[in-house]
Amino acid sequence: MKIAIIGGTGLEDPEILKNPRETEVDTPYGKTSSVFKTGQIESVEVVILSRHGRDHGIPPSQVNNRANIWAIRELGCTHILATTACGSLREEIKRGDMVILDQFIDFTRHREVTFYEKFENNDLQHTPMADPFDKELRQNLIEAAGSLNLSFHPRGTVISIEGPRFSTRAESNMFRLWGADVVNMSVAPECILANELRIPYAAVALSTDYDCWKTDEEPVTWEEVLRVFNGNVESVIKLLRKTISSFK
Ligand code: ADE
Repeated sequence: MKIAIIGGTGLEDPEILKNPRETEVDTPYGKTSSVFKTGQIESVEVVILSRHGRDHGIPPSQVNNRANIWAIRELGCTHILATTACGSLREEIKRGDMVILDQFIDFTRHREVTFYEKFENNDLQHTPMADPFDKELRQNLIEAAGSLNLSFHPRGTVISIEGPRFSTRAESNMFRLWGADVVNMSVAPECILANELRIPYAAVALSTDYDCWKTDEEPVTWEEVLRVFNGNVESVIKLLRKTISSFK
């Protein structure tokens, strides 16, 4: 068992590993978002990748998801736990709440979404995607979040937008009608690519804002996303630690 953590906004370089070392991985798709930090949590082998780079220099559309997921497999990781900031599309998902995602809607437009651009030797690859988040990993997250008394939602649909801009009010209202619960800029296609390589993947989304559908709130700003995530980052780290130590 070896766990990859893909740290999103606010979790660029968490100092949570024992015996940390840095590793680079070459991939056929180019450079990964950051070097990997490898080490242990309790006795579990863990590697950490920073999705937007350690200095957050990589905008969502430029994240090299194929390189990231490929490299994670090259490192022999058996599971992926991802974190992401998100906007809430539901009154009951409050700032600081966590959502253990169970569905996504891919509203991105300019990204590489598959490893299978060609079907070589008649090897047709149409990956099932009905339930893209791993059931067991989600259950581990849910149990850990419960035992830590965190304010969390055991399921939720994320809509991933292209960004880097935020949504219009019309889009935000449409996403609600479509059944999305939260909005972010990164779960798709990261989750798709993990599924293509058959690496179990789950994601914790921390709600930082109400996007812009709510008429009694100011629309989201980047400063708000950072402020709320930073105010809750310790809870996200606790959840990752607890979940990973339950794998011992
Ligand atoms: N990440 C955090 N809040 C967001 C929002 N409102 N829209 C897209 N991505 C986000």
